[in-house]
Amino acid sequence: NLLRVPPPQELLQPLAVPERLLLGPGPSNVPPRILAAGGRQLLGHMHPEVLQVMDEIKVGIQYAFQTQNRLTLAISGTGHCAMEAALLNLLEHSDTVLVAVNGIWGQRAVDIARRLGADVHELLKPPGEYFTPRDIEEGLAQHKPSVLFITHGESSTGVLQPLEGLGKLCHRHGCLLLVDAVASLGGAPIFMDHQEIDVLYSGSQKVLNAPPGSAPISFSERAREKMLRRKTKPLSFYLDVAWLANYWGCDGEPRRYHHTAPINTFFSLREGLAMLSEMVSGTRQAAGHRHQELLPTITTVRVPEGYNWKEITAFLMDNHAIEIAGGLGPSAGKVLRIGLMGCNSTSSNVDRVLRALRDALSRCHRSRL
Ligand code: GLV
Repeated sequence: NLLRVPPPQELLQPLAVPERLLLGPGPSNVPPRILAAGGRQLLGHMHPEVLQVMDEIKVGIQYAFQTQNRLTLAISGTGHCAMEAALLNLLEHSDTVLVAVNGIWGQRAVDIARRLGADVHELLKPPGEYFTPRDIEEGLAQHKPSVLFITHGESSTGVLQPLEGLGKLCHRHGCLLLVDAVASLGGAPIFMDHQEIDVLYSGSQKVLNAPPGSAPISFSERAREKMLRRKTKPLSFYLDVAWLANYWGCDGEPRRYHHTAPINTFFSLREGLAMLSEMVSGTRQAAGHRHQELLPTITTVRVPEGYNWKEITAFLMDNHAIEIAGGLGPSAGKVLRIGLMGCNSTSSNVDRVLRALRDALSRCHRSRL
């Protein structure tokens, strides 16, 4: 008998997936319409109906980003993969990049850009703060980067970065503006063309309420020109935007096979974008009343004095089937993060999580200080 590894007993049991309310920083719950889309029968990745769905995703992203960029598509990967794709297509070895770091996403961008051999400069702010146009202008003048990376919704601290004027500023300094909107898209207004953002990306698993695994991204004409001027090919074949642009029908050429797309994931993303298109006017109105520098999708609160954050999050999970998160990166151990995204953003969910938190505070251990 050559089967030295027996069939695993675990896999002979049915799949177990409990019901949970996902009020962390993402993923958020997936509504039935989007779940059903992902459960549809497969088609081939070059079938005309799939290419049609991809075209629909593209116009959905153009709407969500408020852009007319031709080079707009979804990466076959998570929002983090889109960060990697953006940096590795924009940057060549020795290119100068300035990264605005006020939380984990700037830190990650620094790490990725260094791996690419770029000349990386960090513009630092304490976690919880945002960058003013003046901070940015000083950084641009000092380092003369060809790309500035900044995070719109810093999910580790709950800060929303004001973007007004930054695109113009970058362009005056001959620099491209790259914005991470993974945690903010659909929850806070963003206007890619009007704000002169050159590269913008997001994820599927937050406000769009689709499963993780596809990531909207768009490139301005300026960004496209920089990529066309590259002397060397991007370091990844899978994430090479020239190939992806062709597969997504953005370059006017017949579409060629590049990789086998996660087709069902695209079906879900299509439905997430469709639902956003149906309801976004309400969101934009509501967003007008928020405090300007608070990320509306993720509420970040200090862990109450004397409590252990892990005990609180575990209590909510075990007793209320609600996920909320602790801190991340610079906010680790210090905060609780409560996400309200897309279909999860209802007043009944707010009531439910507040009730659960009250219960946790009265029943979790409180150390005597
Ligand atoms: C992930 O996106 C997080 O903020 O935890």
